[in-house]
Amino acid sequence: MVLIGLILPAIPLAQTPNDLPHLASHGTATQLIVDGRPFLVLGGELGNSSASSLDYMDPIWPKVAEMNLNTVLAPVYWDLIEPQKGCFDFTLVDGLVEQARSYNLRLVLLWFGSWKNSMSCYTPEWIKTNLEHYPRARLENGQAMEILSAFSKHNLDADKQAFAALMRHLEEIDSKTHTVIMIQVENEVGMLTDARDHSPAANDAFVQAVPKELIDYLTKHKDSLIPELREIWKKKKFKTSGTWQEIFGTGPAADEIFMAWHYGRYIDHIAAAGKAEYSLPMFVNAALIRPGYKPGQYPSAGPLPHLMHIWQAAAPSIDFLSPDIYFPNFAEWCRKYHQSGNPLFIPEAKQGPDAAAHVFYAIGQYDGMGFSPFSIESTEDPANEPLTKSYAVLKQLSPIILAHQGTGTMAGVLLDKENQKQEIKLGQYLLTVSHDYTWGWSGGNTEADIWPRVGGILISIAPDEYIIAGSGIIVTFAPDQPQKRAGIVWIQEGTYNKEGQWTPGRWLNGDQSHQGRHLRIPSGRYGIQKIKLYSYQ
Ligand code: DGJ
Repeated sequence: MVLIGLILPAIPLAQTPNDLPHLASHGTATQLIVDGRPFLVLGGELGNSSASSLDYMDPIWPKVAEMNLNTVLAPVYWDLIEPQKGCFDFTLVDGLVEQARSYNLRLVLLWFGSWKNSMSCYTPEWIKTNLEHYPRARLENGQAMEILSAFSKHNLDADKQAFAALMRHLEEIDSKTHTVIMIQVENEVGMLTDARDHSPAANDAFVQAVPKELIDYLTKHKDSLIPELREIWKKKKFKTSGTWQEIFGTGPAADEIFMAWHYGRYIDHIAAAGKAEYSLPMFVNAALIRPGYKPGQYPSAGPLPHLMHIWQAAAPSIDFLSPDIYFPNFAEWCRKYHQSGNPLFIPEAKQGPDAAAHVFYAIGQYDGMGFSPFSIESTEDPANEPLTKSYAVLKQLSPIILAHQGTGTMAGVLLDKENQKQEIKLGQYLLTVSHDYTWGWSGGNTEADIWPRVGGILISIAPDEYIIAGSGIIVTFAPDQPQKRAGIVWIQEGTYNKEGQWTPGRWLNGDQSHQGRHLRIPSGRYGIQKIKLYSYQ
């Protein structure tokens, strides 16, 4: 049986293969272009300390390659590359790049510079021990913290020089090969335990007028501002001149906006200096907010959704803001980070079975550029990790997914016991996607049955044909004319080979589709099915 192969929309070769990794628009989506082609990051972030020893990394590479990763997110530690001021040692970076190349993997490097999870634990000794020259953020009572102050030119210059040296070095060793495809600047920046720095320089800045650049930006985007920010400004009648408190009120919200602007400006200078040496896409990541937490209880002023416009105004050299999603309301954070033109890239997510479902949703529903669970190397059984199986599916589908991103022909689903069903209008049909356990035969019948979180990706490839991939989902179909019903001509499972050709597997028109009533990918299985429909009355 030969099925007609999928005819892909042409993927424009936007650049010649030697061009640097960069971002480009594709319909409404933003894509990462690597070697002239769109690239979907099937990633994993290393635990914090693994990349500090090349020997320690040795057994990790085969493990992550077996998990079907195409990209590893790995830190570069400021204290290890610049142990003495101005003396750089890139041995670790070089080793990492060589190791990655030998496994045909790409790297996203994470600059652990001034800040890592709010703290300044990766700053070199010559910074840590010289508080006079490299000042710290302070609490309201004047106590210094182990957090560099964002209000010091010395701090900024030192970080900027180190980061620029790193990017210069990457240009020297990687500008032809493009093993390193993106850079995260700092890691989960944000002020603790107060909403803002109270050092003397910070206090001085706090009583100054809000910079004109920020006011201009807010004025220009006034009607489309993130609602939380708009509300705060609205309370001050959209005032366009005055101090931070005059424009944003008193209290933690104003403190946080002030701090976000200054973190953003600091990081923008660093990113701009790095890009001047070697222009790779650069982003920042955020620690998210636990319900009910206030700024300072959570890392205040990080690149969070309610501060998106402040960060976008303050840091034009940063290409996008990213969430580190460890909380169960995964879908909500994806939505919040896909506002205001911000492309979704998830550099950290909770490892485990849910990750295998989350990746389908982020990529299918929000045109995600990539996904990357944290501490990827910690698995004991790489071959049997659910994520390994999701990545196997996504690896095959990547060219098709990338061709469909931004065109309104693709959707993602994420289901669990609380959210058992989703309806999606895609192409000419309404697709109802249900959790596999809603079907009596599958499980979920007893109290003891723990409903796994499941996910899938749905792609409309012709008016009456779909590709449906994922795990633990059942899909039924209805045509868009109410008087008609949808019938299934055929369903077939299969795989895509390296050349993107469909290799047919089983024909599923019997029990596996409940005799043509639905499409089902049982929970525990990860696969790709194609379906052709017809309508009748
Ligand atoms: C988020 C941080 O960004 C990571 O570097 C790491 O510290 C994890 N948290 C640990 O859960």
